[in-house]
Amino acid sequence: MSALPQHDPASAIAPPAGSAMWRRDFLFGTATAAFQIEGATEAAGRLPSIWDTFCATPGKVDNGDTGEVACDHYHRWQEDIDHMAGLGLGAYRFSIAWPRVMAADGSPNHKGLDFYKRLLDRLADKHLQAFVTLYHWDLPQHLQDKGGWLARDTAYRFADYADLMGRELKGRVNAWTTLNEPWCSAYHGHVSGAHAPGLRDERHAMDTMHHLLLAHGLGMKALRSRDAAPVGLVHNVNAVLPASDSPADRRAAELAHACANLWVLDPLLLGHHNTDLEELWPTSRPPLRDGDMALISAPMDYLGINYYFRSCIRSDGAHGYVEAPQPGVERTQMGWEVYPEGLRDLLTGFQSRYANLPPIYITENGMASDDRVVDGRVNDEHRIRYFARHFAAIDQAMRAGVRVKGYFAWSLLDNFEWAYGYAKRFGLLHVDYATQRRTLKDSALALRAFLARRNAHS
Ligand code: FCB
Repeated sequence: MSALPQHDPASAIAPPAGSAMWRRDFLFGTATAAFQIEGATEAAGRLPSIWDTFCATPGKVDNGDTGEVACDHYHRWQEDIDHMAGLGLGAYRFSIAWPRVMAADGSPNHKGLDFYKRLLDRLADKHLQAFVTLYHWDLPQHLQDKGGWLARDTAYRFADYADLMGRELKGRVNAWTTLNEPWCSAYHGHVSGAHAPGLRDERHAMDTMHHLLLAHGLGMKALRSRDAAPVGLVHNVNAVLPASDSPADRRAAELAHACANLWVLDPLLLGHHNTDLEELWPTSRPPLRDGDMALISAPMDYLGINYYFRSCIRSDGAHGYVEAPQPGVERTQMGWEVYPEGLRDLLTGFQSRYANLPPIYITENGMASDDRVVDGRVNDEHRIRYFARHFAAIDQAMRAGVRVKGYFAWSLLDNFEWAYGYAKRFGLLHVDYATQRRTLKDSALALRAFLARRNAHS
């Protein structure tokens, strides 16, 4: 591994020369999610969410970690915004905690709403565009008690919530996101059980996904009736590689691609569910009703893409597939393979599959590592290299004609990484959880140097 030119951190992270990412209209930001950073889970009338319940269930989250304090962003939000402004970023993607802003009877919780209004006003003061996600997995527990995403009614409750947010926050938001990663909510929440509410049953897959996508369609309509800001959805995509050239493994990889990527995108962009999934889950069909698909496939203003890794897939000998981890590939602290070309290939693949592909924001991308503060400094060269390689892959996709308008690094801060708790560090800023001290990692300094150079040139 060769040393990076420490004297020129901007060059170490920068996109290739001549890239449209050097233009100021290409947005750079960071992303977070409410439950992962806010803490203050009982402040100002916030109701319990499914993640509070999940964390309180022994054995669900590593080390028994919870969201009770997290990064204490609920109290340190001004400092956190100042850090983003200091880095020279142009946007911030964050989520609203549904249980903070809406009472169980559907009425607004104004104290909770005020937190987000103050946050949005300060972002505007600092010239940071606000990309606001309504649902990043923290369903109010009282809705889970009535069936959660297995119940069609939850989609209508989400539309009520979206309507309230559109009404209360109109004019303050630059872009709305209905859902973050419905794939994870459906699959990890209800099939693998790795995420809240921790259910495990293959038969839940189609019901929960359909209700989530319906929530998106209804929520988008509600937001548009209240506010003019663009609306989209954020989907996590994975690159897939067949373990061998055998027809069985190639077919297995096609099914894995259908499950990981097309299960969400086909209904949104083609207006029908992907039929390969019937091979995977033969007994399960989406609970479609008249009019659902028109709502789900209503054109979005943009599509958010989260990309982290590639999986190697082989046939399980029946109608399914299993992962066949490749030896000798570079992996992050999560065990995820580093494979930037996968992002390029997925983007160009979507461009050919979907004639109506909307403009894209990369709404998450980043890596976890066991970062430590040594003499006031966090050396995370690996993250600098990770970002630079992904910028190059995005640039290649753009040169091939994909419209990418911005990039959000995951994440601003080290934070609560769901079932893994606080051990996995994704931040540009290191968080010392004992003191809540934030330290800019070298990757943050490199990004700051690049953005300063970009601003000087354009
Ligand atoms: C994504 C989630 C985000 C974060 C990253 C690492 O799936 O949207 O909250 O945990 O993974």
